[in-house]
Amino acid sequence: MATLAIIGGTGLTKLKNLQIDRREVMHTPYGEPSGALTFGTLCDKDVVFLARHGYGHTIPPHMVNYRANLWALKETGIERVIAVCAVGSIRPDIRPADVVIPDQIIDYTWSRNHTFFETDLTSVTHIDFTEPYCSEMRELLLQSARNAGIDALPGGTYGANQGPRLETAAEINRMQRDGCDMVGMTGMPEAALARELGLCYAVCAVSANAAAGRGAGPIEMGDIEQNLKTGMGKVRAILEQAIVATA
Ligand code: HPA
Repeated sequence: MATLAIIGGTGLTKLKNLQIDRREVMHTPYGEPSGALTFGTLCDKDVVFLARHGYGHTIPPHMVNYRANLWALKETGIERVIAVCAVGSIRPDIRPADVVIPDQIIDYTWSRNHTFFETDLTSVTHIDFTEPYCSEMRELLLQSARNAGIDALPGGTYGANQGPRLETAAEINRMQRDGCDMVGMTGMPEAALARELGLCYAVCAVSANAAAGRGAGPIEMGDIEQNLKTGMGKVRAILEQAIVATA
């Protein structure tokens, strides 16, 4: 039985070398996940894959049913999750197509279903979120990157924005003053929901572009695509190493 799941983001809607055993459509008390869970083996290790935006990439970041996704994974017996997220770089040393393993989060999202603890409470539950990512999983990702010969930046603060539009230059300036190193749209509430369910969760972030006002001109979709293609090649190599080392 698989204990490791991969949530693929923009640029990673399937795992290339996954030998697929079956796909399962799950139903949860929170509705439907983004798509069927894909169960398979990679390098002879069991793994479950879920495309966060759906297999046809049709679900925008603010419409993803994060609760159903995490609940469904937990239901299958998953204990650890590697989430792949595209980001824009705010810090100048994070170059497009770089891979970063963030260690902190600032949440700017709003009106998303962000908790499992909202009704029928016998006691109010406040999770500790001082360190939002699982340190064991972060270490594994960094070690996997080293094994794959890939430079992954070992930390940084992920600013989670509502989207789906990209930011203004002033918003990015504010985020930088806040201490954000990268900006994305899917990192929250996913990380907090994983913690609520007791899952060991970390993010493998790929820079798709320099954030608004940080590049030479407007953000071009063609550049994002190209950078994600390069970056996801690195992510696949890291994931394979991580899967071999865990499941
Ligand atoms: N902003 C927010 N989310 C993103 C970006 C960005 O510039 N690039 C990729 N995801």
